[in-house]
Amino acid sequence: MTHSAAPEAIPVILDVDTGVDDALAILFALAHPGINVLGISCVAGNASLERVVENTLRILDVADAPTIPVAAGARRPLLEPARSAAHVHGESGLGTLQLAPSDRQAESISSIELMRRLIQASPHPVTLVALAPQTNLALLLRQYPDVVNNIERIVFMGGSTTVGNATAVAEFNVWHDPEAAAIVLDSGVPTFMYGLDVFNQVSIPERVAVALAHGDSPLGHVVGRLLNNRIALGSGRNSDYTGLIGDAGALCALVDPDALETAMLPLRVQLSGYGRGQTLVDKRTHPGEDVVHGLVGDWEAAEVALDVDVDRYVRLFLDTLGLGSALPPSK
Ligand code: RIB
Ligand code: CA
Repeated sequence: MTHSAAPEAIPVILDVDTGVDDALAILFALAHPGINVLGISCVAGNASLERVVENTLRILDVADAPTIPVAAGARRPLLEPARSAAHVHGESGLGTLQLAPSDRQAESISSIELMRRLIQASPHPVTLVALAPQTNLALLLRQYPDVVNNIERIVFMGGSTTVGNATAVAEFNVWHDPEAAAIVLDSGVPTFMYGLDVFNQVSIPERVAVALAHGDSPLGHVVGRLLNNRIALGSGRNSDYTGLIGDAGALCALVDPDALETAMLPLRVQLSGYGRGQTLVDKRTHPGEDVVHGLVGDWEAAEVALDVDVDRYVRLFLDTLGLGSALPPSK
């Protein structure tokens, strides 16, 4: 698979915690001509920082990608300890998928420095795509606030207007580092939330994932294994990683936003209590008592994805990877 971004492609920096679905997102971003991946910043989250960096380098090998700078950032959140997600992504971070070690080397600079250099050198404003806990982005914004002058917007996979996954109400990336998410929201950079409302919908049918995993395409084998990843939990039960394209959906949103229903909504991150890490999204159409009586300050507004044309993103994802023939002919 060659990485051939079109001249008008969107300049993008990915921040990842590769991870089963981060891997799918990286493969999609590299394959889509409308996306120009300038670099990849790594953070601890689904796995340790070292695993995330190695997994990312190995996925670049799978994509036969050109040299794309990859750098390591934070190895834990701003306040919270690092907490493993091995129960979802396995100890390796790539579930049961085994990939050969990569000969690629990560940059010697931190990912915060890498992002700063890439943003300041870009002739066009850069889109930051955060697919992980937002610790690196928060550190970038605190250390180099002027970078906002050449950032088009921040697209983040995270949050939810309804149910959580890490807790009853909080999504993993925001829950892992709530302060970082609050700092990013407060940055003044236009922000787009690709949360669980849509993340939890875009799933490849298991029969398609199984067919890819056992098909002739080496890329299809990797994608099929990632989509259909099953991890034995300590209890011996398998946790189905249900075929969700996960983080890759946030990249689909870059190139096909019309498949989403979105709204500009007031949004803040809850930083205390059981709801810590919850994204509070105000969907009311009229101010309530909290506003009328001046009980709350201003909330930042973000563009929030509320619904998605699932079939459209399933086909976009597979077609972009050259795997669309695995789908039944569209009706
Ligand atoms: O809640 C899902 C998010 O947490 C995804 O980005 C997944 O990779 C994990 O980082
Ligand atoms: Ca992720």
